[in-house]
Amino acid sequence: MSDPSELDLAGLSLSRIASLAEGCTACELYEDATQVVFGDGPQSASLMLLGEQPGDQEDRAGEPFVGPAGDLLDAALIEAGVDRGEVYITNAVKHFRFEEKGKRRLHKKPTHRHVSACRPWLEAELAKVGPEVIVTLGASAAQSILGRSVRVMSDHGASVEWEQYLVVPTIHPSFVLRSSGDRARRDELFAMLVADLKRATELTSG
Ligand code: URA
Repeated sequence: MSDPSELDLAGLSLSRIASLAEGCTACELYEDATQVVFGDGPQSASLMLLGEQPGDQEDRAGEPFVGPAGDLLDAALIEAGVDRGEVYITNAVKHFRFEEKGKRRLHKKPTHRHVSACRPWLEAELAKVGPEVIVTLGASAAQSILGRSVRVMSDHGASVEWEQYLVVPTIHPSFVLRSSGDRARRDELFAMLVADLKRATELTSG
């Protein structure tokens, strides 16, 4: 059991940090989640994608963005010419927060307290990976690092300096999925996500 705010993570390897995160008890979300979903991707990545929290399938698989939102993200990355294998993908909150509706587990937005409790893990990932550019997917991810004044629909695609990184906010892949009933809107949102990912990768030096 561990609370990252009480650990000195600086001298540890990324894989050691990931295994310590498996025992995280910094907030109550570990009680109902299957497992922690730590970031995934090469430590040498110059581009980091930051989501909100794992979903149902990610919680079961133990990997970020492997469910429907992950499939859409993969399609957008391909369209943007970005190799997912070269990107580090993580979430602001590393346990799945949900409510049960019958047999289904429905996503529940994490609170500020959950984001703060998880923050040392994200900071450790940032310190180890040292990306040049961070793409935040959706409002929760953007606000977790840039603060509550960020508005994804007006700020998407901008490059914002934050600490030593450039942050490019964009929409969450789930937002595109939720608009699937309206073909034109879905295509517009998908194109927006692709353009922002493309812009972010162009901001990296290689
Ligand atoms: N949504 C997220 O924000 N992250 C995931 O890993 C999956 C879905």
